[in-house]
Amino acid sequence: METLVVDHPLVAHKLTTLRDVRTDSPTFRRLADELVTLLAYEATRDVRVTDVTVETPVSPARGVRLAKPYPLVVPILRAGLGMLDGMTRLLPTAEVGFLGMIRNESTLQAETYATRLPDDLSGRQCYVVDPMLATGGTLAAAVQFLFDRGAVDVTALCLLAAPEGLAHMDKVFANSGKPIRVVTAALDERLNENGYIVPGLGDAGDRLYGVV
Ligand code: URA
Repeated sequence: METLVVDHPLVAHKLTTLRDVRTDSPTFRRLADELVTLLAYEATRDVRVTDVTVETPVSPARGVRLAKPYPLVVPILRAGLGMLDGMTRLLPTAEVGFLGMIRNESTLQAETYATRLPDDLSGRQCYVVDPMLATGGTLAAAVQFLFDRGAVDVTALCLLAAPEGLAHMDKVFANSGKPIRVVTAALDERLNENGYIVPGLGDAGDRLYGVV
C-alpha cells in the first residue's frame, strides 16, 4: 500500500482551521470541500485517460479525456458525504456509489448498513472518500468490498490518518497484490482509548452535520 501525505502550505492552513474546535459547521463543510479538491489533485495522478484530438480555432490539438469505464467515487456514509462534491467537481464524469458503514463504538468494528453500488466493478478505478482513517477497520472493509466486486485499484482520500489505521491497512492488504493508495492531508500522532484520532478534529460527521 502506498501512503501520500500531501505536504502543502494551503492544505496545512485549511486543516488547522478545520481542527479548531471553534470552527462552526458551515465553515467546516466549506473547508472540507476545499481540502478534498486539493487532495484529489494528487489522488487522481494515475487516473486513466484516453487520447483524443480536438479542433482549436487554429488547428487540431492532441489531448486526453477520462477513459471508460469511468472512475467510481465512493463516499462512506455519513461523514464521507462531506467530501463528495469536492471530488466530483474535479472528476465530473465519475459515477458515484454509496457505502453506509458505521463503527460499532463498543467493538470498534465496521458494520455495513447500506450499499448502492454497481454489482460489477471490473476494470474500475475507485476513489473512496472518508474523512478519518482511525482504526482502519471501516476503510479496510470498504476496500475489500470494492475488490470483491472487481475493482482494479482503490485510492482512499482521508482528511486525517492515524498510524494505527495505516498499519491495519498495510497488514490486511499485505498480500492482496492490488494497488491501494491512501492520500491524506496529515498523519496524526495516535488514537486515544475511544478510538479518536489525536490531536484530530473530533467526530467528523458531527462537525459536518451536527450531533445525531
Ligand atoms: N472518526 C471520527 O469522526 N473522528 C475520529 O477521530 C476517529 C474516527
